[in-house]
Formats: sequence, C-alpha cells, structure tokens
Amino acid sequence: MGFTILGTGSALPKRRVSNDELSEFLDTSDEWIFTRTGIKSRHVCTTESLDDLAVAASEQALQTSGVDASQLDLIVCSTTTGDHLVPAEACAVAERLGATCPAFDVSAACAGFVFALDVAEGYIARGRARRVLIVAAEQMTRALDWTDRATCVLFGDGAGAAVIEAGGENPLAVELSTSPDAETLRVPGLAGSSPYKTAQDRESVLSMNGRRVFKFGVNAICDMVHKLASDASIAVEDIDHFVFHQANERILSQAVKRLGVPDDCVVRTLRETGNISSACIPFALDRLARTNALNAGDTIALVGFGAGLDVGGYLLRWK
Ligand code: UT7
Repeated sequence: MGFTILGTGSALPKRRVSNDELSEFLDTSDEWIFTRTGIKSRHVCTTESLDDLAVAASEQALQTSGVDASQLDLIVCSTTTGDHLVPAEACAVAERLGATCPAFDVSAACAGFVFALDVAEGYIARGRARRVLIVAAEQMTRALDWTDRATCVLFGDGAGAAVIEAGGENPLAVELSTSPDAETLRVPGLAGSSPYKTAQDRESVLSMNGRRVFKFGVNAICDMVHKLASDASIAVEDIDHFVFHQANERILSQAVKRLGVPDDCVVRTLRETGNISSACIPFALDRLARTNALNAGDTIALVGFGAGLDVGGYLLRWK
C-alpha cells in the first residue's frame, strides 16, 4: 500500500546570525563564506530548545494536513542533536502534541529524514499505521567547535515535518545506501566518567573532511537521481522538483550542471539557514509547498546525504 503526503511544516529559531557577525570572533568574512558555500546567514537557538522547534514544525504539519495529534499512529523523529539522549526526541514531541502513539527516533545524520520516511512507509505497508508524523529537528550549533572556522560557519538550527497517510501511489521509487566511513564526518558521543575507561574519548564536537564530503555529495546526488528516474521508468527531465540536502551551493550547482536539469527546479534554502542537517529536506519541501510551487501530480526527487556515509533518495508524487 502506498502513501500520500498530507501536509508539511517547518520552524526556525528567532535569532538570525549573519556572516558578518561570525567574522567578529572568527578569522572569516562574508565574502569567503558566501562565495564558497552560498550561505548568508543561519538561525541559532537562544531561548528555544530543540523540542520547541520539533513541536512547532510538527504542529504546522498537522494543521496543514487537517490531522489531529490523536489520529496519529506513529511519530518518527530524525535527529542527531536532541535535547536529551533519553527519551527519544519523538517522545518529547508526542508528549507536547498530546499524542499517545508509538514514537521513536532515527539517526542517519543529514540523510535522516529520508531514512525516517522509509521507516514510516514500512509501517504503512505492513498495515501497522495509517497516519504518520515524520519530523526532522536539528540543533547543529550545539555540536560545533565555535573556534573552527572551517565547520562552524556552515551549520544552523531548524526543523521540518510532514504528515503522511496510507493510500496513494508513493513512492514512485526509493533507494537507501551506506558507504561505511566513520571518520569523514563525525560527532563523538558522551565522554562519561566511567572509572574503568582507560582510552581517551574525543571531544564531542563535529569534525569533517569538507573536500571529501563535497565530492561525495555531488556524486551521491547525481547517481541517486539517475537511479530513482530509472527505477520509476521516467526520464530525469520528467522530474518537476529537486529537493537536495542543503550543504553547499556549489554542490547544488555542480549537480544541476551534471544532471542537465533547469536550475530553478532545484530548491535552495541554505542561503538563509545554512546546513540544518536532516531538517534541510523537509524544511525545503515545506518552503516549496508554502510558495505554491507544487501542483497536484508534480514529481519531486528528495536526495539526502551525509555522515555514515549515508545516502537516501525518494521519488514522490505530490498529492
Ligand atoms: O551535511 C554535509 C556536511 N558537509 C559539508 O557541507 C561539507 C561539504 N564541503 C564544503 O562545503 C567545502 O569543502 C567547505 C565549504 C567546507 C570548504 O570549502 P573548500 O573550497 O573545500 O575550502 P578548503 O577547505 O580547501 O579551504 C580553503 C582555504 C584554507 O586556507 P589555505 O589553507 O588555503 O590557506 C582554509 O583554511 O580556506 C580556508 N578557510 C576559511 N577561510 C575563511 C576554511 N574555512 C574558512 C572560513 N573563512 N570560514
């Protein structure tokens, strides 16, 4: 049994930080950041918690869908930067929405929303759920080394959500893959204080080989789009909208060139938000929907990639 996307939602923290503000305490500039990444600003949590962002995006998605929280059969949250390791972020969302369905998290870094969608689809296919809320929420600013100009200028905080319902022709195609590599992009976990631990734990901040991720990202997007189109027996040119992970404008423009698709079919949100990890895709999808850019019957390719190295792609038809 397929599914339909009923509605989407998104949320950003209030505080917007421009590139110029970062250059007040880092050896960087608006010129470097914008020309190398396409990012002009990012939103950062100040008083907001990640729970707040996840709930705000979820409430908006429920409202757009005309679904009450009590009608949900499942909540899946994608995050790697939750307010708490336990319970799952999805449980906090369920509590604040007043939902009583099962709720758990999926961790697949920047590809997390696509992996979470696949989990949700599985529940629907097995008849275990009819309506599912999928929310991706990230507070990347808590995982950054704010003295490392090579990484901290790239990320921001935000959330995006979608409600899906059983019935419909989605997915037209789906593909997930992992090229195991635990070093290229990494955030170490809790150090803890076990008296038995003898090995030194690394500090819990993000480290990354940017050039490697860049190359991986361009290839991942292009290979995935071709695979999705081929699996659905359509041409790449027949895809109406491309919602790719928002890591770097240069990654997006190289992918556009290699795929030979019109530039304006590729959604861009990173100029305002930076990289909000797994929230990028549902955030961008919500932007598309809210600007009335989506028509019934349109095809949309979602491609997420990132730490893992995980890649997830979905080819969808808009309701
Ligand atoms: O969700 C996936 C997350 N991963 C990504 O988004 C990473 C994808 N990769 C990228 O976006 C790019 O590789 C970066 C934006 C991270 C870096 O761009 P680059 O063109 O690959 O630059 P680079 O790392 O080769 O650095 C070039 C120079 C270096 O200086 P030297 O050694 O040439 O003197 C860096 O130290 O730029 C310097 N640099 C900066 N300068 C000013 C690095 N960061 C900054 C900065 N401001 N913020």
